[in-house]
Amino acid sequence: MFKKSINSKLQKDHEILCEYRVYDIVVPNDMLGWLRSDHAGETGAVWIYKGANLAFWSKSIREMAIEHLTTEKNHLVVMEHLVPTSQRSKLIFIWKVMGFGLGFFSSFFGYSTFCVTINAVETFVERHYMDQITMLKKMGSNQDLLKVLIKCCEEEIHHKVDARSKIKKNSFGLIKRWWINIIEIGSELAVKVSTKV
Ligand SMILES: [Fe+2]
Ligand SMILES: [Fe+2]
Repeated sequence: MFKKSINSKLQKDHEILCEYRVYDIVVPNDMLGWLRSDHAGETGAVWIYKGANLAFWSKSIREMAIEHLTTEKNHLVVMEHLVPTSQRSKLIFIWKVMGFGLGFFSSFFGYSTFCVTINAVETFVERHYMDQITMLKKMGSNQDLLKVLIKCCEEEIHHKVDARSKIKKNSFGLIKRWWINIIEIGSELAVKVSTKV
C-alpha cells in the first residue's frame, strides 16, 4: 500500500515534469539564487492555500484554495526538480509557517479580505517572475528555463485575476491598502533573504 502510494506520487511528478518540460534543464550556478527564491516562494504558496483550505467556515475560500493549490503543488514539483536539496533555502520551515499563517489568518476576515490577500500575493509573484523573464530574454540564454518561468508566471496571473474578480467593488479601504503594503514589503523581504539563505 505504502509502496503503491510512493509509485503513484512518482508517476504524478513525472507527468508534471513532462508537462512543464523541465527534465533537461540544468540551472547554471549564477542563477541558483533566483531559483532558490522561486522554490521558497512556491513552498510558501502551497502553504498559503493549505492554511486557507482549513477555513471550515467558508466554502468559497476552500474552493479557491483547493483550485489554486493544485497549480502551486505543480510549481513546487518543478522547482524541487530545478533546485537541488543542498541549494534550497535553509529557512524553508519559516516560509511554510509564514505561508500557512497568511492563508489561515486572512481567511478569518472573510472571503473578500482573503481575495484581497491572494490578489496582492499573486501580483507580487507575477512581478517577481516577470523580472526574471525580462532578464532571461535580455540575456538570450537558458531559453528552456525561460519557457518554464513564462508558464508558471501565466498561471500566477490566472490566480491573480481570479482573486481580483471576486473582490467586491469599493473593497479597497484604507486598512486593506495598508494590508496590501504589508504583504508587498513582507514578500520583498522574503525574496531578498531566500535568494541568499
Ligand atoms: Fe506558484
Ligand atoms: Fe499562484
